[in-house]
Amino acid sequence: MMVSETGIKTNKVENSRIHEVDPSNIQFGKTYSDHMLVAYYEDGVWGKPEVIPFANLALSPATTFFHYGQAIFEGVKAYKDPNGNPIIFRPNDNWARFNRSARRMAMPEVSRELFVDGMRHLIDIDRDWVPTGEDTSLYIRPVLLAIDEFIGVRPAEKFLFLIMTSPAGPYYNHPVSIYVQDKYVRAFPGGIGFTKAAGNYGMSMLPTSQIKKMGYDQILWTDGFEHKYVQEIGTMNVFFIIGDKAITPDINQDTILAGVTRDSVITLLREKGITVEERNLSIDEISEAHKNGQLKEAFGTGTAASIAPIAALTIHDVKMELPPVETWEVTNWLKQELSNIRYGRKEDTHGWIVKV
Ligand code: COI
Repeated sequence: MMVSETGIKTNKVENSRIHEVDPSNIQFGKTYSDHMLVAYYEDGVWGKPEVIPFANLALSPATTFFHYGQAIFEGVKAYKDPNGNPIIFRPNDNWARFNRSARRMAMPEVSRELFVDGMRHLIDIDRDWVPTGEDTSLYIRPVLLAIDEFIGVRPAEKFLFLIMTSPAGPYYNHPVSIYVQDKYVRAFPGGIGFTKAAGNYGMSMLPTSQIKKMGYDQILWTDGFEHKYVQEIGTMNVFFIIGDKAITPDINQDTILAGVTRDSVITLLREKGITVEERNLSIDEISEAHKNGQLKEAFGTGTAASIAPIAALTIHDVKMELPPVETWEVTNWLKQELSNIRYGRKEDTHGWIVKV
């Protein structure tokens, strides 16, 4: 055990598992780096974080989050810059969102030192795990779990904060085919749709497996009152290029995750002089635009998937095919622009890149 310059106690593995990674075939979420960061909250205070070898946790079967889902997470990515140094994309924004999720789920907030500096230290230790190939990155997964050993229903008092990392390749390797959902509901105003609470993802498994069997990749979630307005697709925010404008659902009703990639895309589009409207967008408006030839491009945005072009949208039996993705000017430009910033190939004029 050593104490690093950051003051974080660090217990390094004796033998790295890095040889398990095939750099030419990195799949999302299959391999975990050598180390993880852990910190415990008890008696109203956070204990000191430690970096330890990635390993199973020993938890009582009565642990709160197993039963009641008091659990949140984040998704962040680190890249290698042209000099081979790891850099992290917008971790401060994920930290702020993590704490918004924590507040809604009656969990303790974490300091920037714990979340961002802890992450930087962990990536420094596991820097060899940040892949270098195009479309690859180190996916960083911070998690906060309620760990009281108590199965009565009340907000927990003990928590585990953990950061694990995983080398990642592209999340989707083809343009996605979307099914518009009008039976199940992802989020209501006043609910937890704006958080990265585990339950938001757990509840999507059944509807998603149903549409996958039907041959689609992801669901387009609509509002729970009329199934009329667009919310998100799968685990991503969504944008439609209609005419010469980009339109995305606004995030004011607590039903939609304030995506960091979403925000980056809005910023880049506006800087490019493209009008972005954040507002209610109905399925009818999308269908109408498709009929009139005005639905030019559509894509999902998220940390894991980055920018995922949408090839087609199906509502009941009606399939709306979009023009071939190779011809899309806005999405293809955005993908390239965002990659150049993330891999440190282009000057970071927004303060988005944090060095390890
Ligand atoms: C992300 O984009 O980071 C997500 O949270 C999606 C996911 C659950 C893989």
